[in-house]
Order: sequence, then structure tokens, then C-alpha cells
Amino acid sequence: MAKAKKKSARAKRPTGNDAIALLKADHRQVEEWFEQFEKTRDDDRKLTLATKICSALKVHTTIEEEIFYSAFLAATEDKDMHHEAEVEHAGAKNLIAQIEASSPDDDYYDAKVKVLSEMIKHHVKEEEQPGGMFAEARDSDMDLEALGEQMAARKSELEEASGVTPPGARKQRNDGRASNARN
Ligand SMILES: [Fe+2]
Ligand SMILES: [Fe+2]
Repeated sequence: MAKAKKKSARAKRPTGNDAIALLKADHRQVEEWFEQFEKTRDDDRKLTLATKICSALKVHTTIEEEIFYSAFLAATEDKDMHHEAEVEHAGAKNLIAQIEASSPDDDYYDAKVKVLSEMIKHHVKEEEQPGGMFAEARDSDMDLEALGEQMAARKSELEEASGVTPPGARKQRNDGRASNARN
């Protein structure tokens, strides 16, 4: 009898390929680059890594704000969570701009990258922790599959516009089939 229960959650079942999987993959990639930055003593390597980190974070925060966060706010009406995330992005972007305007021979360069990594660590935790934004998104009516495709497309567009396509970027450019991307 109880079988009549409707399965309305189908669209947001995790597939490893949805909006949240895409955002988490970005988080892992940037964390790896931060770790590598911390280990190296080589200025060229530092510059390469910091450049990749800054570019990736700019693309990531843009697709979150344009697509994920706005869908989150519409679906959950959780202004506190949404606004806090946006303010954290603004803080990170400020530091990213400083890092991009600087170079490893600046005495403060390492400190700036270190503080950025701490800000991002905190922010990622707020997004990924139990009861955090992603958990709330999963419990909502958000169509995470569709949002994932939208974000993958926008991400490719932004990466191409900035001339940066990070190594290891999933094959999702130009073929219009972003849903084939694996994580
Ligand atoms: Fe994020
Ligand atoms: Fe974020």
C-alpha cells in the first residue's frame, strides 16, 4: 500500500556528474594546487601555481554566483547562507586581485597565497559540511543535473575567454555534451 509514495527526488539523485559533483571537483583541484604551492621553493613554480589557482577560483566563483547560488536562493530562500557565501567570495576576490597584481619576489606573496588558501578552506567547508549549502541544495527542488550542465558549459566559456584551460580539465568543450564529463 505504501508503495504509492511518489519519487519526486529523481532529478536530484547524485550521479557523480551533477552541479555539486562539478563544484566539489573544482574544490579538490584547487586544494591540490595550494598544497603544491606550499611545498615548492621555486619562484617560477609558485607563479605558475598561483596563476592557476587564481584563474580557477575566478571561474569557480563566477559559475557559482551566476548559476548555482542564484538557483539555491530561489529554491531555498535561505538568504543567510547565500549572502554569507557571496561575502566570502568578495573577500577572496579581493585577495586574488592582489596576488595577480603581485609576484613571488614580493615579500608578502607567500602570505597572501597562504591566507587565500585559508579563506578558501573555510568557505569550502561551509559549502560541503553536513547542513551546509550543498546539503541544503540536495534537499531542495533544485535540478542539479541541469544546473551541472549549465555550469560546465559556462565554465568552458570562461576558461576559453581567459585563455586558461587547466590541465586535467574534463573533456567538455565545444562538443555540447558536457554531461559526458566524468569526475
Ligand atoms: Fe565552491
Ligand atoms: Fe563558493
